[in-house]
Amino acid sequence: MGVEKFGFLIWVSCLICLCHGYVPVNNYLINCGSSTNVTVTGRVFISDKLASNLLTSPNEILAASNRNSNSDIYQTARIFTGVSKYRFSVTRGRHWVRLHFNPFQYQNFQMGSAKFSVSSQTHVLLSDFTGKSRVMKEYSLSVAADHLELTFTPLGDSFAFVNALEVVSVPDTLISGDPSFVGSPGKFQGMSWQALETVYRVNMGGPRVTPSNDTLSRIWEPDSEFIVEKNLVKIVSKIASVNYVPGFATEETAPRTVYGTCTEMNSADNPSSKFNVTWDFDVDPGFQYFLRFHFCDIVSKALNQLYFNLYVDSMLVVEHLDLSSYLSNTLSGAYSMDFVTGSAKQTKRIRVSIGPSSLHTDYPNAILNGLEIMKMNNSKSQLSNGTFLPSGSSSTTKKNVGMIVGVTVGSFLALVVLGGFFLLYKKRGRDPDDHSKTWIPLSSNGTTSSSNGTTIANPTLTREMVNLAEWAMKWQKKGHLEHIIDPSLRGKIRPDSLRKFGETGEKCLADYGVDRPSMGDVLWNLEYALQLQEAVIDGDPEDSTNMIGELPLRFNDYNHGDTSVNVSVAKEGQFDEEESSVDDSSGVSMSKVFSQLVKSEGR
Ligand SMILES: *[C@@H]1O[C@H](CO)[C@@H](O)[C@H](O)[C@H]1NC(C)=O
Ligand SMILES: *[C@@H]1O[C@H](CO)[C@@H](O)[C@H](O)[C@H]1NC(C)=O
Ligand SMILES: *[C@@H]1O[C@H](CO)[C@@H](O)[C@H](O)[C@H]1NC(C)=O
Ligand SMILES: *[C@@H]1O[C@H](CO)[C@@H](O)[C@H](O)[C@H]1NC(C)=O
Ligand SMILES: *[C@@H]1O[C@H](CO)[C@@H](O)[C@H](O)[C@H]1NC(C)=O
Repeated sequence: MGVEKFGFLIWVSCLICLCHGYVPVNNYLINCGSSTNVTVTGRVFISDKLASNLLTSPNEILAASNRNSNSDIYQTARIFTGVSKYRFSVTRGRHWVRLHFNPFQYQNFQMGSAKFSVSSQTHVLLSDFTGKSRVMKEYSLSVAADHLELTFTPLGDSFAFVNALEVVSVPDTLISGDPSFVGSPGKFQGMSWQALETVYRVNMGGPRVTPSNDTLSRIWEPDSEFIVEKNLVKIVSKIASVNYVPGFATEETAPRTVYGTCTEMNSADNPSSKFNVTWDFDVDPGFQYFLRFHFCDIVSKALNQLYFNLYVDSMLVVEHLDLSSYLSNTLSGAYSMDFVTGSAKQTKRIRVSIGPSSLHTDYPNAILNGLEIMKMNNSKSQLSNGTFLPSGSSSTTKKNVGMIVGVTVGSFLALVVLGGFFLLYKKRGRDPDDHSKTWIPLSSNGTTSSSNGTTIANPTLTREMVNLAEWAMKWQKKGHLEHIIDPSLRGKIRPDSLRKFGETGEKCLADYGVDRPSMGDVLWNLEYALQLQEAVIDGDPEDSTNMIGELPLRFNDYNHGDTSVNVSVAKEGQFDEEESSVDDSSGVSMSKVFSQLVKSEGR
């Protein structure tokens, strides 16, 4: 299907949105795994076929549940057994990315236990993710390029899946300005580059709001389950009285059904009431959170009657909050306020309270109409800090977690990196006549084809791998990684490409898991290194200037001291047969990691 036709589809989808007011410039809605379009609350999720031109995947597995119902996006899924990438052409700016998951069993694919990661070209959205039940993950990503990439990376021998995908423009005005910090002076700068994940979007005192009642197709949950003491509140609904005052919140900020309902302090007109109304929200520690409060005074009969205090985690964030004065003396005006939690959360809870201000006139009161809590990416551009412990390993390694796992996984990744290096470059080089003379046993033999032509150090030799990785890192730290290059490859490798590989390998060996890159990051670094290399190969394959040349060292340099390493070199094709029995403690299928690289070579 041509680009024009897809453009037309987007245009048609936009037309359907017209009735909602806001028209997203980019609006990709995909019913993954399905041969048919499905219309959900007026929005057409196009069939997988119509969207397949956006996807690069090693295979095509379209799964349908036994339910035999084609009327909703959750009955089909696309399964990815290798690294797979969607590429959406977009205009610059913020976009919603919504990933819909509803696991079911399809043939041998038990989706409820699949483990994978999802990344954009700039941020890790999900790592170590397992969708055990139906769930929708919503992100708001700022795109500075003319495309948005979503990469699904299965972990270990697992696979990835997705039932439906949305990539939809967000109005520029929705997230703007510098929110104040909770509990410290100053403002958070750089909100426009921040990737956000919606963790809670709550309609205080009101019903669940579905995408059809929200101009930006958002879902708002009722707040009752988050209220700490339900007997202290009453709910109010006056949807018709909501005023959208120009210059303040709009229908895009939150719909009328959110501003028009609230949870109010139940002071029972008692002038001596002294208590707070509190909501608790469980969150992942280790991240900062963006909080957006929605207020609309639908309870006062006149201006300047309602004054209250707002607290986050027991810290006062607004004192004597008087909505009518904020809204230039309009009653029932919609108003939103943004905050950012001061530093990465140490606790697993965000506690929000409203309570009476000392300025209250009539009787003590306080209200809240809506609240959004969004996780912010950390300094490593992650929205999820999964450890990337390979899936099959839990039973055997739980006893001696920590060090051992750290070292083996790290070393393994480093070997993957180094292995990838040799595999790739070796394919372009000549084969050594005598394997015993190769410097490092991570070289291929025989003729090469992408499926089986590769040989690698036997991945079951964990101890040797560790030593091997240490040896490579010794040279990396000295700035002479070129010493580990197979002699037959001398003169064929670009220093900057080698440097990138070295750095990637080094990061994989970091002492602490949090410092190690994700598998997805490793892949992209490798690809980047490959591109640096290909720039030359594609140019002039025989031009060896600017390449790493011969070195005066010999194989024995490796075999010195007490690190006697005996690495067996597998026969051609053997690796493929053995991939399922890869080292227990790692469980990572090398061929999967390489599939992406092999593919990129064939482009
Ligand atoms: C899916 O919808 C698009 C327009 O939204 C239409 O052009 C296409 O023919 C539909 N395909 C099927 C299989 O119904
Ligand atoms: C959604 O909007 C419809 C009108 O479009 C309205 O009748 C309905 O009450 C709204 N539902 C909610 C939960 O606000
Ligand atoms: C990662 O997440 C866990 C809990 O999910 C948390 O305990 C830990 O502090 C986080 N680490 C970092 C570096 O954010
Ligand atoms: C409300 O909560 C804040 C923060 O925990 C506390 O300082 C304040 O005293 C509370 N107000 C009342 C009336 O309990
Ligand atoms: C989020 O990621 C961006 C890079 O995309 C980075 O500039 C920013 O500092 C990160 N945010 C935090 C809170 O670390």
